[in-house]
Amino acid sequence: MTAIAPVVPLPGDNRLGSILADLSAKGWSWQPGLLPEALYHALRAEVLAINAEDDLAPAGIGRESNFQLDRTIRKSRISWMDGSTPAQADFLQWAEQLRETINRRLMIGLFEFEACFAVYRPGEFYDRHLDSFEGARNRVVSLVVYLNEDWPAENGGALIVWPEGSDETAEPAAHILPERAGVVFMLSETVPHAVEMTHATRVGIAAWWRVNPSIQGQIDPLA
Ligand code: OGA
Ligand code: MN
Repeated sequence: MTAIAPVVPLPGDNRLGSILADLSAKGWSWQPGLLPEALYHALRAEVLAINAEDDLAPAGIGRESNFQLDRTIRKSRISWMDGSTPAQADFLQWAEQLRETINRRLMIGLFEFEACFAVYRPGEFYDRHLDSFEGARNRVVSLVVYLNEDWPAENGGALIVWPEGSDETAEPAAHILPERAGVVFMLSETVPHAVEMTHATRVGIAAWWRVNPSIQGQIDPLA
């Protein structure tokens, strides 16, 4: 019996090895052009259509009872992905394969994936933050995917990454331009980062893998 090849194959071993080595060594990894070409085009078309229809919600900080809509910290728009289109289904399958590899090689025990299209219109930004909310070890590894064709530096909108565990006085470790099909991995609890104000519409995907926080015997009380 031959195994059925995945629709969207994973990157080669060298690429996976460098992601895992970066995550262990410094807590983040920048992978230009990692998203497969066909998936890039399909997801880009989808996020542009969603933006044109204005089918987006203002992004908040925190969730449920802790949810805050603080436009001084974060100004952008999101649309949650539910896997209901072929592009989203392929993306979720691609992410699932990454999860299996990360779990096997880093023994993190990632459990659930949540992803949203993220649109920053001119003037929008996201100040320095961590992706994991206080008090709940829910988001463990963050994944950001860029769906912009070209991105000259004058557009602003760079992702600034600070060294793992550093405070506000540390120099940034990287300024990353949100270029086509580029993918960033970050440990959600320890790598501070920010999105500089953008001067052009900036589209992408923000996503996270969670562990399953069981509190008082209740499985995943935050879900
Ligand atoms: C986020 C985030 C970074 C980016 O959505 O939490 O930090 O470059 N995004 O879009
Ligand atoms: Mn973030």
